[in-house]
Amino acid sequence: MKKIPHRLYLTEEQMPKQWYNLRADMRELPDPMLNPATFQPVSEEELYPIFCKQLAHQEMDCTTRYIDIPEEIQDFYKMYRPSPLIRAFNLEKALGTPAKIYYKFEGNNTSGSHKLNSAIAQAYYAKEQGLTSLTTETGAGQWGTALAEACSYYNLPLTVYMVKCSYEQKPFRKAIIETFDGHIVASPSNTTNTGRAILEKDPNTTGSLGCAISEAVEKAVTTEGCRYVLGSVLNQVLLHQSIIGLESKTAMEMLDEYPDIVIGCAGGGSNLGGLIAPFMQDKLTGKASPRIIAVEPASCPSLTRGRYAYDFCDTGRVTPLARMYTLGCGFIPSANHAGGLRYHGMSPILSKLYHDGYMEAVSVEQTKVFEAATLFAKQETILPAPESSHAIRAAIDEALKCKETGEAKTILFGLTGTGYFDMNAYSSFLNGTMTDTIPTDEELEKAFGELPKIPGIQ
Ligand SMILES: Cc1ncc(COP(=O)(O)O)c(C=O)c1O
Repeated sequence: MKKIPHRLYLTEEQMPKQWYNLRADMRELPDPMLNPATFQPVSEEELYPIFCKQLAHQEMDCTTRYIDIPEEIQDFYKMYRPSPLIRAFNLEKALGTPAKIYYKFEGNNTSGSHKLNSAIAQAYYAKEQGLTSLTTETGAGQWGTALAEACSYYNLPLTVYMVKCSYEQKPFRKAIIETFDGHIVASPSNTTNTGRAILEKDPNTTGSLGCAISEAVEKAVTTEGCRYVLGSVLNQVLLHQSIIGLESKTAMEMLDEYPDIVIGCAGGGSNLGGLIAPFMQDKLTGKASPRIIAVEPASCPSLTRGRYAYDFCDTGRVTPLARMYTLGCGFIPSANHAGGLRYHGMSPILSKLYHDGYMEAVSVEQTKVFEAATLFAKQETILPAPESSHAIRAAIDEALKCKETGEAKTILFGLTGTGYFDMNAYSSFLNGTMTDTIPTDEELEKAFGELPKIPGIQ
């Protein structure tokens, strides 16, 4: 009988040499980004003051199916990749399910998450262009840490605007970002015009990814030689993250497996977009039909309760307009512990795929998420990040459905990171003080009422 490994690692030779650009296989493309002043589609050149040139090019490239990963980036990847594909034998046993559960574990690097896959690419292209500094935002802190690591590798000064509630919940994130020479600011801050305006309106705000993005973009466009980089939402980030899905697919092929269900948590959509990329390709080209499920927090339900509309990517209304599922850029989610999922919008690529029926979405409450996280930790000996635990929750729920029907489905989910900086969250779950906050319809309607008005479109 064939012996099934617990963990499967590809060899260096088997690692992808190219990223996969999902847009090349989409029957209908996401709507173009619009300039908020003219409402005309944004050109690649218009993005140059914000993004470095290669990344602006990748952002607009809807036709090149495979894009070479520069050798320097491949070499960096080899320091912490391939990441393992793991069969959750113990979890399956604990659930008593006939389902086969696999997860792709992206938490085995210092940043503790998949974010390093795009951070190193973005720092590489910035250095190649001769830029002298970068700015970014971070929610939970994983992206800020990943980018600080990448910038320190290329000697690029970095300013990170970290969402205030995460900054306060996770003081050690600051220390680790500073270890890699990053400069970190709690957002909203009084260091930018947007930050000051937000604070004037609500001095006690806990911040949001949308606020932090506004501040980082402002800093980039007002500083010589500086550009802004983003850890999610953008097409270029999904492109870099396709390495997760490409590695997973090769590993599953080696096991003669193919997932019936692919599950990922969804903040801005980068890990999910990366994990599903080659499986969605099969779906778009009619080769296979896996179910694909996005999992989001009930406190910030952009896909399940949002509007498919043009909106700003930030709270300060300075970015181009993207057509996506959004809760409205003025929506400030409650201080949920999954900081990386507290974003009002969703990747335009995933939004379009969801809108066109290629994907499903579910929302889950954080207490249910932590029940799943603690069960998983005990069975699989990995302490998952709160964000990743949303995917665990949905994977467990699907496996329990299999238990009822007796179907031995194959489930693949993305375990995006570890939760060692989230012990306040674990403590509040364990001592029973964790609560669930779900926005009311009235709150959502208020934010939808502030969506930008675009002549002839919305
Ligand atoms: C561990 C982890 N998982 C998931 C996410 C969600 O981001 P995305 O939807 O871009 O994958 C984050 C964001 O910070 C994160 O830190």
